[in-house]
This record gives sequence, C-alpha cells and structure tokens, in this order.
Amino acid sequence: MSRVWGSGELPRHVAIIMDGNGRYAQNLGKSRLYGHKMGVRRLWDILEATLEAGIPYLSVFAFSTENWQRPTKEVKGLFRIARSTVRVYTPKIQSLGVRFLCIGNKRTLNPKDLQAIERLESDTSKNQKLTLAVALDYGGRWEILEAARKAAELAAKGELLPEALTEERFGSMLQSAVIPDPDLLIRTGGECRLSNFMLWQAAYSELYFSQELWPAFTKEHYLSALEDYVGRERRFGRVSKRPFSFA
Ligand code: IPE
Ligand code: IPE
Ligand code: MG
Repeated sequence: MSRVWGSGELPRHVAIIMDGNGRYAQNLGKSRLYGHKMGVRRLWDILEATLEAGIPYLSVFAFSTENWQRPTKEVKGLFRIARSTVRVYTPKIQSLGVRFLCIGNKRTLNPKDLQAIERLESDTSKNQKLTLAVALDYGGRWEILEAARKAAELAAKGELLPEALTEERFGSMLQSAVIPDPDLLIRTGGECRLSNFMLWQAAYSELYFSQELWPAFTKEHYLSALEDYVGRERRFGRVSKRPFSFA
C-alpha cells in the first residue's frame, strides 16, 4: 500500500463495529445470513489493509450480548458462520503472523467451539505482526460488571484495598487487558452509536462513522478513515497546540 500519511501518526489500535450486513443483503433481495457471509469476506480485506499499514491491533465487534434477541435462525446461522470462519481461516491467520484473541463471554460457547477458539488462541499466541481481537457475545457493560465482580471478590478476601483500585488495576481485570485502548473506533452502517462496544476503553477514542454498509466497506473506505484520523488533533483535555484558524 503506497500511501503517505503526512506528519500525523497512524492509530495503534483500530476498533470496528461491523454494522450493516442485514441491510446489505436485503438491498440485494437476499437473506440476512448472506450479508453476514459477505461481512466475513470484508473482514479479511480490512485485516490485510491493517497489516499493510503496520497497525498492530485490530478489534472487531462480531456479536453483542444484545444480539441474542434476534430470531433463533439468525443467531444459529451467525455461530455457524463463526465456526466455519475459524476453520477456514486458521491457516491464513497463522501464515500472516496474526495473534487471535476472542473477547466476550466464552461461557455461552458450546464445548466444541470453545475448544476450537482456545486452540486458535494458543496456536497463535506468539504471533507478533498484528493482534486481532474478535468480540463475540461481548457487551461493554457485561465486561465492566465482570471486572467489578473480580475486584469485589478480591476485596472481600482482603486481597484488595478499595483505595488500591486504580484505573490501571481495574483495566487489567477487563477482558481486553492485553490490548491498548482503541485510538480509532469506526462504525459502518450509518448509525451513530456505540451499541455497548468498548465502553471503558473508548473513553478517548476518535470516532468515525461511515454510511457504508459493512460488506461494502472497502479498503479505500478504510484508508479514508485512517487519513481522517491522521488529520485530527487528540487533546485529551489539554489545550490545542495548533495555531487557531477560522478555516
Ligand atoms: C452487523 O450487521 C452484524 C451483527 C450484528 C451480527 P447487522 O446484522 O446488524 O446488519 P443491519 O444493521 O441489520 O443491516
Ligand atoms: C452492533 O450492531 C453489534 C455488532 C456489530 C456485532 P447492532 O446492529 O446489533 O446494533 P444496534 O441494534 O443497531 O444498536
Ligand atoms: Mg445492525
């Protein structure tokens, strides 16, 4: 990828809410599951573009704690697609040097799926080019609540003083503890909401909303999002370092 990024820095971690699969399929008169299948293909293009740009962390929202409320047929279909994706793409993940992580509630996975996912996690644990975190049965509130439970258990056992619970310590109890906070959070599909994704971690993420439905979100659209990010000034509450201009 030959792209000059100017003076700004690329994000270290891009998080994506991959939304719009259903509408993409409906627009073509096809089933929602067709849209989800096309969505998986798109993920691999974006993964390649992330590798090419040298960005070390990519996380994607694949299934939310709220998505259980969808019709059983769609939920079953989604997990079937997730299963075959793990099977089909395992060699590719390995050959690209990608470390795979699954964040979310693994307790709801059936034993066979859990085994396949944990094997992929351990087989790729030494890969260093890119960490891909897939959020499956994930909800930001669920994750925060789980961490709060852990902290409360430690406190009840006398192993954690309430005043010793810092942001860092609490962050280390989250599912995503091994990955940095997202610098750039992209949502496709035209909705401008977080839908319970990375609530703790996105405190200072730059947000980018794209009208493109996820299966139609190309590498070029992705590069535009990165370019937009590079041009932003992240102030983290401080005053601007840029000269003021009306432009
Ligand atoms: C995102 O696409 C994928 C999942 C939530 C699993 P949707 O299925 O939400 O697609 P739309 O938003 O209905 O178009
Ligand atoms: C968010 O999309 C979840 C995923 C992309 C996995 P939804 O389509 O479920 O979000 P809402 O319902 O529009 O908020
Ligand atoms: Mg949606």
